[in-house]
Amino acid sequence: MLWRELRLRWRTCTLRLLALCLAALFCTHFSVEHKALPQPGLAVAPKESGVEEYHRRLGDVPIKRQVIYVRRSSKGASHGKQGADASVLRRDNLQSARWHIDLQPWADPSHSLEEEARRFLHYISKSQIICSHLATNGLTDDNVYSMKPWTVCLDDKFSLAHQIRSKQCRVYSLGLGEDANIFELNMASEGCEVHRFDPSIPSAYIHEAERLWHHRLSVDWRDPNPAIAPHRLHSNTKKLKTILNEFGHWKIDVLKADMESAEWKILENLILEGIIEQIGQLVLEIHLHWPGFEVSGNDSSVVRFWYSLFKELEHKDFKLFYTYKDLSKPQMFLKKNILNASSCYTLSWVNTRWT
Ligand SMILES: *[C@@H]1O[C@H](CO)[C@@H](O)[C@H](O)[C@H]1NC(C)=O
Ligand SMILES: *[C@@H]1O[C@H](CO)[C@@H](O)[C@H](O)[C@H]1NC(C)=O
Repeated sequence: MLWRELRLRWRTCTLRLLALCLAALFCTHFSVEHKALPQPGLAVAPKESGVEEYHRRLGDVPIKRQVIYVRRSSKGASHGKQGADASVLRRDNLQSARWHIDLQPWADPSHSLEEEARRFLHYISKSQIICSHLATNGLTDDNVYSMKPWTVCLDDKFSLAHQIRSKQCRVYSLGLGEDANIFELNMASEGCEVHRFDPSIPSAYIHEAERLWHHRLSVDWRDPNPAIAPHRLHSNTKKLKTILNEFGHWKIDVLKADMESAEWKILENLILEGIIEQIGQLVLEIHLHWPGFEVSGNDSSVVRFWYSLFKELEHKDFKLFYTYKDLSKPQMFLKKNILNASSCYTLSWVNTRWT
């Protein structure tokens, strides 16, 4: 009697174990497949305007308001270029993925922090190309000293000026809620389609002003892992590549980013996935008081990594045309006082392949 009961229990146990193993196996398989394959479904731009599609998928928008979005945003957000965008996207997805950036040789055989810092600071304090028509915060006069100097180049030899004139420019602004939106408002009033990404706004989507959309979404260097968080499908963290695919956008005339030390991994991600080539001008605030999120290694390796990222940009024909050392922030470089460096710089590059 007891023996039979024991055997029965043993069998139930084994069965349960088997089921568990199978479930685990299935999960791993699913996640691996998800990571390894370029997702063909996403490569094709949605038929409707990408913004609408995106907000339709974002589950926490009530049905009634969705309808309003569809009608409102169909004027400004869709550019009627989705077909072209889609074909380029498809081609782009065929490029093989890279897994790491090319590290530059050490600045000095001793691998010292001092020499790495010297090379890096020299690099970020010198423009590589002259821009004769700078626009700071979207304005061309200089009466905006109190604000951060978000600066773009409106020289005729680069595409942005033409795109603005023909009201075809698109600006993406990535931030974490602390910055004033003067730059965005001015770019929108110049005729650009401006998308602000900021996870701290109260509702999923705000049509802030004419041509200025605000999305409750944070740009990250990876998408949420589908195996770990299947119940959190409404996660508001995405890679820029995913957002572009979902919006059906291919190019961004200006990418402005103040990511409070996440900029290094995000920049690395844009380079590795080839998204950087879809950007016309890059305006970045960089933070140097610590290595940044998920940047590892000793201090010299960290600075070498930062420098290598900028050399990758240079290799893609991005030229630095504006650099600003923020003296209002602590003058601190990896928690030390090195060469009078500041912890914060604002840099602007132009993609010289876009002329
Ligand atoms: C930092 O680490 C790298 C290898 O990861 C090593 O080559 C280098 O010598 C180290 N630098 C210092 C100053 O210890
Ligand atoms: C750092 O700043 C101090 C005081 O402003 C100055 O005397 C010194 O020469 C500077 N050093 C470097 C390396 O620029």
